[in-house]
Amino acid sequence: MNPPADDLDRLMAVMAAAFDPEYGEAWTRRQVEDALLLGNCTYELIDDCGNPPAIGCAAAGFSLSRHGYEEEELLLFAVDPKHRRKGLGARMLVSLAEAAKSRGAHRLLLEMRRGNPAESLYRTFGFQPIGERPNYYRTLHGDRIDAITFAFVLE
Ligand SMILES: CC(C)(COP(=O)(O)OP(=O)(O)OC[C@H]1O[C@@H](n2cnc3c(N)ncnc32)[C@H](O)[C@@H]1OP(=O)(O)O)[C@@H](O)C(=O)NCCC(=O)NCCS
Repeated sequence: MNPPADDLDRLMAVMAAAFDPEYGEAWTRRQVEDALLLGNCTYELIDDCGNPPAIGCAAAGFSLSRHGYEEEELLLFAVDPKHRRKGLGARMLVSLAEAAKSRGAHRLLLEMRRGNPAESLYRTFGFQPIGERPNYYRTLHGDRIDAITFAFVLE
């Protein structure tokens, strides 16, 4: 997939605002472009009302996912801090679940650093922890943080 440059600009603006540099989780524009070129990755942008942003309007959030055999992995998921806790994240998860199902997935997977407040959103949505990678993430200050893998079964 070769996304319009405008979409990448909007996605990267949310990326820059949403991820705490301490954890090194944000991707570069090049990484996003490369992932989308692979052909099995896709993205969604939403505006502050939860709709696809109109041309020229800023995005409030995005998700980036990769589909594989019977599974879809949420690679990146972010909402601009200005628009958080209004249900936009949950709305994107609903939309991703529907889209993943239509692509043939039976479950959604994601990996999260231990302690990310997003965990309560994932658990409320129905994700269950299925594994851990000890010391998987490294912070800017050199501390190590476990990764937790969550799965959500698509009915
Ligand atoms: C995770 C994220 C996308 C959620 O977006 P959102 O639009 O705020 O999500 P929603 O409004 O649908 O859900 C918010 C719920 O998430 C949880 N939550 C998210 N951030 C939280 C925080 N800082 N403190 C406490 N709870 C938080 C709460 O359960 C909250 O529900 P509540 O508002 O009813 O208490 C957003 O916090 C974000 O961009 N975080 C930084 C990037 C990131 O860590 N992405 C996930 C990588 S695994």
